[in-house]
Amino acid sequence: MAVDLLLGLQWGDEGKGKIVDVFTSNYDIIARFQGGPNAGHTLVFNGKKHVLHTIPSGIFHEDKVNLVGNGVVIDPVIFKKELDKLEEQDVNYTKSLCISRKAHIILPTHRLLDAASEASKGKAKIGSTLKGIGPTYMDKTGRNGIRVGDIELEDFKDKYRALADKHEAMIEFYNADIEYDLKELEADFFDAIETLKSLKFIDSEEYIYQAQQSGKTILAEGAQGSLLDIDFGTYPYVTSSNTTAAGACTGLGVAPSQIGEVFGIFKAYTTRVGSGPFPTELFDEDGETMGRVGQEFGATTGRSRRCGWLDLVALRYACQVNGVTQLIMMKGDVLSGFETLKVCTAYNYKGETITHLPYNIEEENVSPIYTEIKGWAADLTGMTEASELPENLNGYIEFLEKELNLPITIVSVGPDRKQTITRKTV
Ligand code: IMP
Repeated sequence: MAVDLLLGLQWGDEGKGKIVDVFTSNYDIIARFQGGPNAGHTLVFNGKKHVLHTIPSGIFHEDKVNLVGNGVVIDPVIFKKELDKLEEQDVNYTKSLCISRKAHIILPTHRLLDAASEASKGKAKIGSTLKGIGPTYMDKTGRNGIRVGDIELEDFKDKYRALADKHEAMIEFYNADIEYDLKELEADFFDAIETLKSLKFIDSEEYIYQAQQSGKTILAEGAQGSLLDIDFGTYPYVTSSNTTAAGACTGLGVAPSQIGEVFGIFKAYTTRVGSGPFPTELFDEDGETMGRVGQEFGATTGRSRRCGWLDLVALRYACQVNGVTQLIMMKGDVLSGFETLKVCTAYNYKGETITHLPYNIEEENVSPIYTEIKGWAADLTGMTEASELPENLNGYIEFLEKELNLPITIVSVGPDRKQTITRKTV
């Protein structure tokens, strides 16, 4: 069976967690392929909100396998906290959760390095979540990293010490004003490592291959968004992994020929958290309304998200890079009440009109060219059928489908599992 992908097409926070949870009943295995605790996947059901960071969003379905792939970076301390939360809710993950031995581990000193590096950047800081993501992926590609499989080896503690000592020297080099008690951090770390040891470690590429051979269905869950991809995002204001479709191949060990549907998720408008260019960003009442109604605060850091109109130049680019086959539109309900909506269909780039994403999308190079579309007033949040959607919302959706040349099959009208409308099947 092919592996289907579900990924974010903007700067993250599109609502991937909710849709993975909704889709889980259609799959045997849910597999996270990149990122780490910088992600915050929010799920709402039975009147309760759940936030996951590293654990796949299918975890609330105990009969499904939830796999953390080799492309993910794991902070044992945060992972343990997530497990504790699941236990509080009587979710039994012992049989369903498994972790790739090849996934890399975030050390306490990776987090400290992240903080020191950001502090040293001054105004040019990335706006990182400070979870140690960048330094951990640096150690991975620098061939210094520690992997989950190393926990099973006798020299694990020696490996840890050697890397942590190296990091301490690097932290000193940054000369940043950060205070820490490494002994305390290490006590929590090794305590969490013991918890991790009680979980199932697997050779995930082999596991997935065998699952495919036996006809099991697999959904690969992305984290962050395509515009935060280390290669194709708005570098250097990006995360340190491949958030795009190719990342699922390297992050799980799945061959490109084995990829099936690519579900691309986007918000009906755009948000971004952290620094970096954002051509359609709003600094007015409209942006403030989107932030307030859409409750645009980071699930991991609590920071306010920057808000703006939908950017079809960037979205078209993301669909292209990922080979998206179906689109899922989130948070249409947040736009209810706007008399007129704006959609960016092209950029004015140094005096020229362009429809592709250029190398430089900083404010001084790019200004958005908008098309105006009539808004709708109706509250969408109680709607359950496509036939109930207001005419002007259908107009908005059809305009996007035409511009992107892709079907929008699902429209989400609220955070709850139940607030999900299937518009069409393909
Ligand atoms: P890092 O991956 O924590 O180093 O953060 C790098 C950039 O990606 C920052 O601008 C973060 O705000 C952003 N980022 C990282 N993870 C997420 C996410 O899950 N949603 C939205 N933005 C994110």
